[in-house]
Amino acid sequence: MNLDNILQNILKKRSIDDLIATSKKTELKKTLNVFDLIVIGIGAVVGTGIFTIIGTAITGSAETVGAGPAIVISMVLAAIACVFSALCYSEIASMIPVAGSAYTYTYATMGEFMAWMVGWILMLEYAIGNITVASAWTGYFIQFLKGFRGYLPDFIVNFPIWLRSDYRTMAILCDTNGWDLHDKVPYIFGHIPFTINLPAIAIVLVLTILLIRGIKESTRVASIMVGVNMFMILSFILVGSFYVKPENWTPFIPVVHPIQGILTGTFLIFFAYIGFDAISTTAEETKNPQKDLPIAILGTLIICTILYVCVALVLTGIVPVNNIDIQAPIAHAMSYVGKDWFAGFISVGALCALTSVLLIYQLGTTRILYAISRDRFLPKSWRLIHKKYRTPHVMTWISGVVVIVCGLFMDLNISAALCNFGTFTSFVIICVAVLILRKTEPNRPRPFKVPLCPWFPIAGIVICSVLIFYSMKTLKTSSSYFVIWLVVGLLIYAFYGYKQKRLGEIKKR
Ligand code: ALA
Repeated sequence: MNLDNILQNILKKRSIDDLIATSKKTELKKTLNVFDLIVIGIGAVVGTGIFTIIGTAITGSAETVGAGPAIVISMVLAAIACVFSALCYSEIASMIPVAGSAYTYTYATMGEFMAWMVGWILMLEYAIGNITVASAWTGYFIQFLKGFRGYLPDFIVNFPIWLRSDYRTMAILCDTNGWDLHDKVPYIFGHIPFTINLPAIAIVLVLTILLIRGIKESTRVASIMVGVNMFMILSFILVGSFYVKPENWTPFIPVVHPIQGILTGTFLIFFAYIGFDAISTTAEETKNPQKDLPIAILGTLIICTILYVCVALVLTGIVPVNNIDIQAPIAHAMSYVGKDWFAGFISVGALCALTSVLLIYQLGTTRILYAISRDRFLPKSWRLIHKKYRTPHVMTWISGVVVIVCGLFMDLNISAALCNFGTFTSFVIICVAVLILRKTEPNRPRPFKVPLCPWFPIAGIVICSVLIFYSMKTLKTSSSYFVIWLVVGLLIYAFYGYKQKRLGEIKKR
């Protein structure tokens, strides 16, 4: 086989008609309406970002300057960064309502190699992002258990740190507290330190089983979770607004390094917006995708931005910047004004929010893997459909196990940064795909069109690229992990995917 042939193969695109025809044969059930989609959107978006990361974005940390009350500006900037990609997602999702999100869209525009790489990168956003959320879940769960001090036995309320941490977090904890790792952690065969995040593993297992039971059942649980967390956030805004002291908003913009503070805040709080694209992964299970997908994607983004800005105004209005807690800032704000019981309620809301993010991200992971395996880049056995529940159960188990195993080695910060890298990259690709399709398929019906094309997609490409390079410069560990991830993806394609694809083509002839 010569180089020309190989090049031809890796640039081979799938026609949009072919993609749509394959999706019509789907064995997945078409049950979702616009309300379900918005529930999936809010469920995927509202989570760690607004309940945990907002604290650090406001106050800053040892390496970063905080945005202070100007976090509101950071939030609007982060929303603007997302809106261009959201519009592009809406155009393509309504035009090609097929499972697989950015992976499928890339296949139709840039060929098989880029499509595989995008699918592989999307795993960072979905599966690795879930490690961040599962770690944050453990944090709030411990907080919740502490509320039962005196009612539950001490070994439950204060169970050992090595049973609720990944190895990196444990090592950092020992470092910052001056503890000896040998005193805090058991060693296997006297040599290998053993730590495990049991609550995170337990919640991932429960959700895996739930997802196997069925997408409708899963979105029903997600809607209950979203309902509870929306109620908590709205009551925080309402109750909290009575305790706002406007003098806490002065100075509104940080006096020292204002631009850096606001931009770092934008970068950090971006995590809070990730997730609206998960809606497009369920395209094949949506009853009326052309109309409902764009409404749901843009609706989710607008609802979340309004909520976030209100939460940020109330939070910074109640607690002076220097007193904001970075682990559970929203719950702490209520304790700050003497409403401990309300703080407990907020923890329940946070747990619900994080659970729904986990559920939807795992749903997204399996649906993207499903599309990739259907194209033969991953083994066929992975997409076996459960006889009774009609869900891809093998794949669901695989994605659950990946989160559990990788979660043993990665902490919240590393996985969050990797997730950001994956998301920024997929946003850039989506904006490029819109530009390509406008040239190659000018006459195909577009139930939704990005306004001011090509300027909006170009703005999306520029903003997300700047964010990728900015974070690669500052986050050294996670950017090297990102490069390793890309190389592993390339090797899998070279030694497995490429050959399987060719074998498939021979069989078809
Ligand atoms: N936006 C999601 C969260 O904040 C990923 O947890």
